Amino acid sequence: MTTPTARAPQSNPARDYVLGTQSDEAVRLGLQHRLWSAATHELWERARIQPGESVLDLGCGPGHAAMDLAQIVGPTGRVIALDESATFLKQLHDHAVSRKFHHIERVLGDVQDLTSVLPGEDEQIDAAYIRWVLCFVPRPEDVVKELHKVLKVGGRVAVQDYFNYERCLTLAPKREAFTKVIQAVAASWRSRGGDTDIMGKLPGMFLRHGFRIEHLGVVQRIARPGSQLWHWPNSFWQTFVPRLVETGFITAEEMAAFNKAWEDAGKDPASFIQLPPVFEMVAVKE
Ligand SMILES: C[S@@+](CC[C@H](N)C(=O)[O-])C[C@H]1O[C@@H](n2cnc3c(N)ncnc32)[C@H](O)[C@@H]1O
Repeated sequence: MTTPTARAPQSNPARDYVLGTQSDEAVRLGLQHRLWSAATHELWERARIQPGESVLDLGCGPGHAAMDLAQIVGPTGRVIALDESATFLKQLHDHAVSRKFHHIERVLGDVQDLTSVLPGEDEQIDAAYIRWVLCFVPRPEDVVKELHKVLKVGGRVAVQDYFNYERCLTLAPKREAFTKVIQAVAASWRSRGGDTDIMGKLPGMFLRHGFRIEHLGVVQRIARPGSQLWHWPNSFWQTFVPRLVETGFITAEEMAAFNKAWEDAGKDPASFIQLPPVFEMVAVKE
């Protein structure tokens, strides 16, 4: 591999995902990666991701995890970072160039059609990482099926995703304006074929397609006003709540009531938010 663009992006037309690919979303994804990096790293250790390995980062976004994985596998390994957004892949390219990471390959394509976007990779991949992607795709089982083809026997898949999103994401004390918007977030997600409870179905899908489940766990966190983690939901509201108005899932009045509830909670040291639980799994190809 001589450049971070060694595998030229395929010719699939780039599509936009539900949260958008503009710079505010890229910044939000960076903050999110930072705040979840400890749990993520622990999961990568559980999945035994090692120097010299070939690792897939599926739905890599602007590549915050791919850059970390590139450090872990080192120059004798490779990271194949795949996303349907050309905008995100260009951002990853720029970062990889500036850090002189020549072992990151970017691939533009749909994670649901892995074997056609990764020709020649059958049984070549040691491990795959897929975080907050399966909750967005209409055909998650196809991703699992295709992953089985590209992984070596004994290859590991590390997943982080949501289950019970809508019920758990709660402001305390409860506020109706807040709850309404969370329901709209989940409805908008579902309207595009996504599933905010996808993790409940993933162990079954992996077992059906030739994997065993080595680890299943959950990280449940809360955030208090003024804490680092408070910025995580805050950055999500800023990016996404105006889109809910544009797409007709809530009215401008409902957004205003939500903003007021969030602002009031942010000034109240007695309030907290229960964040959506992030479930994690390591599955191994048999
Ligand atoms: C919430 S972001 C997560 C990004 C990254 N995995 C992370 O954890 O920082 C979801 C990503 O999945 C990508 N995505 C959604 N559906 C996809 C599909 N069918 N094929 C490829 N990428 C997809 C989006 O473009 C976006 O970059």
